[in-house]
Amino acid sequence: MSSMEFSLQYRKYLDDINHEITKLSAVPDVLQKSVFSAMEYGLQGGGKRIRPVLTLAVCEMLGGCYQDALRVACAIECIHNYSLIHDDLPCMDDDAMRRGRPTCHMVFPENIALLAGDGLLNLAFELLSDKSGYTTLSAESILTLICCISRASGAWGMIGGQVIDLESEGRSDVTKERLLALHGRKTGDLIRVSAECGCICAGISDPNSEEYAKIVTFSSKLGLAFQIKDDILDVIGEESRLGKPVGSDQSCEKNTFVTLMGLEGAKEELARLTQEAKDALCGFEKPNFLLALADYLLHRDY
Ligand code: IPE
Ligand code: IPE
Ligand code: MG
Ligand code: MG
Ligand code: MG
Repeated sequence: MSSMEFSLQYRKYLDDINHEITKLSAVPDVLQKSVFSAMEYGLQGGGKRIRPVLTLAVCEMLGGCYQDALRVACAIECIHNYSLIHDDLPCMDDDAMRRGRPTCHMVFPENIALLAGDGLLNLAFELLSDKSGYTTLSAESILTLICCISRASGAWGMIGGQVIDLESEGRSDVTKERLLALHGRKTGDLIRVSAECGCICAGISDPNSEEYAKIVTFSSKLGLAFQIKDDILDVIGEESRLGKPVGSDQSCEKNTFVTLMGLEGAKEELARLTQEAKDALCGFEKPNFLLALADYLLHRDY
């Protein structure tokens, strides 16, 4: 796939996702309006939307229903955006900038930002569980999606990873094994489940099937690679391009792939995982967009 074809396809996915997200984030004129405004603020601002893009691309590659996948994709993006609002809070990474704008708690009172994160998490599960919002998915598939997403974003997954991240700050005895568990959970699991949902939307929900297993390998490796790239950009990125502070990890004394194996070591790990992710797609008929996405994420500068 040429880079022009990739950009056009990515643009199409982004437009579809952003259109849905704009509909979702309309602010109603109610007493608790402030929380809806903070939710809207958290959802907007130009994220890369790579999790929903993965859901759509996997579903399309496997011939599933695009409209249903779009709904699930947007629910996952709500969860991701909730995690960013909370991640930036003073009690977490204490960051003031995200996506080139002040973070949610810098614009809204901290208590409202916290509740906006909670609101987005609940909105995700409202979207996922409202049967009337789907065209083809069976109730059983919907339950499977909800089960996978709640596990991947909860204490076994993303929340668990955030806990290991916080409890690793300032420690000098963090092993590669612990760091892999940390990154795999805090970032890898939501990226993996985004791709898995694409499978489920395409009617492939047996984790033991060859196609499902390949998608899990691809997206787990891609998810780890994604966080390693994030660690690298936190050191050598350009703040104006990144839209968030460079050096945030250092100021929180985080353990990252860069602190563990140096910049060059982290870059090697990133390249190796990206290649392994791409290798896992061998055998699919139309893997071109996902292959190009892996390369795009490898070379991104924001
Ligand atoms: C940032 O995620 C947090 C991580 C898990 C590394 P993204 O890099 O996907 O952030 P946006 O959504 O594009 O802003
Ligand atoms: C965040 O990791 C992972 C989440 C679950 C949000 P980081 O703390 O490294 O993400 P950034 O760099 O603030 O976006
Ligand atoms: Mg963090
Ligand atoms: Mg952070
Ligand atoms: Mg980071």
